[in-house]
Amino acid sequence: MLFDKIVAVITGGSSGIGLGIAKDLAKRGARVLITGRNPEKLEQAVAEIGQQASGMVVDIGKVADINALFERVRDQYGRVDVLVANAGGAEPAPLRMITEAHVDDTLNTNLRGVIFTVQGALPLMGNGGSVILIGSTASINPPEGMSVYGAAKAGVRNLVRAWIQELKGSGIRINVVSPGPTRTPGFDAYFPEEQAEGVFALLAEKSTVGRIGAPEDIAQTVSFLASEAAGYINGIELFVDGGASQI
Ligand SMILES: NC(=O)c1ccc[n+]([C@@H]2O[C@H](COP(=O)([O-])OP(=O)(O)OC[C@H]3O[C@@H](n4cnc5c(N)ncnc54)[C@H](OP(=O)(O)O)[C@@H]3O)[C@@H](O)[C@H]2O)c1
Repeated sequence: MLFDKIVAVITGGSSGIGLGIAKDLAKRGARVLITGRNPEKLEQAVAEIGQQASGMVVDIGKVADINALFERVRDQYGRVDVLVANAGGAEPAPLRMITEAHVDDTLNTNLRGVIFTVQGALPLMGNGGSVILIGSTASINPPEGMSVYGAAKAGVRNLVRAWIQELKGSGIRINVVSPGPTRTPGFDAYFPEEQAEGVFALLAEKSTVGRIGAPEDIAQTVSFLASEAAGYINGIELFVDGGASQI
């Protein structure tokens, strides 16, 4: 198996894209530890993935939680082979409505959390390790109301540019996977039920492949970047969006 017994940590692995990634890595042989905030959702996701999965409640905005996560990983597995920093998301807020709390929450989850997640995993990673940060097409093309989120995701992309230089010679690669619109519980929640199908149809039309994304599209890309087949790929932002951000 491609990822026989490797150890993969996926933050936000209890839903949507993160759950898709955890399932794909587990299917290919990895042992996966997923995180989320809601314990019931987390437990259900662990059961869905199967025996190779375990879960831990972690608020990625809290550094103490992240430290506890990697203490547990060290005790349970002794190492991390693949780290996927996926936990994220944001409420929309147009410029006139942005509050201090909106900025703090959005940056804590989508930028600060990513920094301390990677820092926390690093002592457990070595030659051949792969870090994948889940960005967004909002890094180059933020929709209305998503300016702070877009800034956080652009920041994630930029962290990597410095980190790959700092990690030169370590054998650890870091890449960003930036999804376009992807059907997940988090994404669906942005749209009132009566408008949702219309919005999804419009987004599908904007894509050059005639549809919007599924978690499996992102998961298969992550598994490729985590594999040795991607051993010469480092520091990129790979858009998985049906070409929508490139036209
Ligand atoms: N879906 C899209 O169209 C899309 C497009 C571009 C980028 N993305 C990115 O893809 C990633 C996953 O999004 P998704 O659509 O799969 O969302 P989702 O269905 O809402 O899942 C988000 C996951 O992250 C966890 N999470 C959120 N905030 C957290 C926090 N502060 N601390 C710990 N865990 C937290 C959630 O756990 P709880 O539910 O327990 O809080 C859940 O497991 C995010 O980084 C998002 O920005 C998504």
